[in-house]
Amino acid sequence: MLLQISNLTVKVASLQSQKTIVDKVSFSLSSERVLALVGGSGSGKTTIGLAILRLLAPQLTVTFGAIDFNGENILSASPKRMRQLRGKEVAMIFQEPLDAFNPVLPIGFQIEEMLWYHTALPAEKRKGRVYELLNTVGIRDPRRVARDYPHQLSGGMRQRAMIAQALAANPKLIIADEPTSNLDVTLQARVIELIKKLIADLKLSVLLITHDLGVVDHLADEVVVLSEGSVVEQGAVRDIVHNPQQDYTRKLMEALA
Ligand SMILES: Nc1ncnc2c1ncn2[C@@H]1O[C@H](COP(=O)(O)OP(=O)(O)OP(=O)(O)O)[C@@H](O)[C@H]1O
Ligand SMILES: [Mg+2]
Repeated sequence: MLLQISNLTVKVASLQSQKTIVDKVSFSLSSERVLALVGGSGSGKTTIGLAILRLLAPQLTVTFGAIDFNGENILSASPKRMRQLRGKEVAMIFQEPLDAFNPVLPIGFQIEEMLWYHTALPAEKRKGRVYELLNTVGIRDPRRVARDYPHQLSGGMRQRAMIAQALAANPKLIIADEPTSNLDVTLQARVIELIKKLIADLKLSVLLITHDLGVVDHLADEVVVLSEGSVVEQGAVRDIVHNPQQDYTRKLMEALA
């Protein structure tokens, strides 16, 4: 098993009280599979993604449960180990690339930085690899795009560039948090097609976070449905998307139609 989450519980502390935002969530993801976490806004999807990378905001705490990644206990890994792991073994793609990229550095430089930090690729080969990665995500003029700053790219190009950066170190797991929800509908479809192609070509393992069951149906093998921090149902996409047993999942489906 590549990723195994057992009884993960996350609480948020405020001055007066503690509130449970992820409640004993368990699921596992095998290598070369795509597992979707779906659920309405505030159901805890992003929190679970950030917990895996140990990037939760300081007021959020994992109070119970375990996260096992490739045989390693993530919750007890050292900060140094986590810095190695992020990007190199687990990469995250966010909804808004402008938040993920540094605004004052060219895109190509930022992708090259990943190669420098996480791979043994010699300096003279790194630029070529950056162009290759940009090509992989369907960018036809990689040399120009590599010189551009994040704000100079269109939303769709920026999203592709972030995917290229996530792929740079050849991670074992990609966490994609609403990777297309900031794009208009036509672009969404194209980026989803791109992700589908990358999953097949590069045999990626993906934890896909989305509230869109159409995207789940298109990309995922398995699905975990969350409501207010708890798992409502989980199983194979063909069973759950096409034959939901729970009212909550049915409502998510209807919201789409
Ligand atoms: N830093 C924080 N401080 C306080 N509460 C938080 C914090 N981060 C998340 N929460 C709360 O935890 C719950 C789960 O949030 P989370 O962002 O994981 O939901 P989500 O499923 O990703 O929602 P969305 O679909 O809107 O992205 C929400 O009620 C949210 O308000
Ligand atoms: Mg979220």
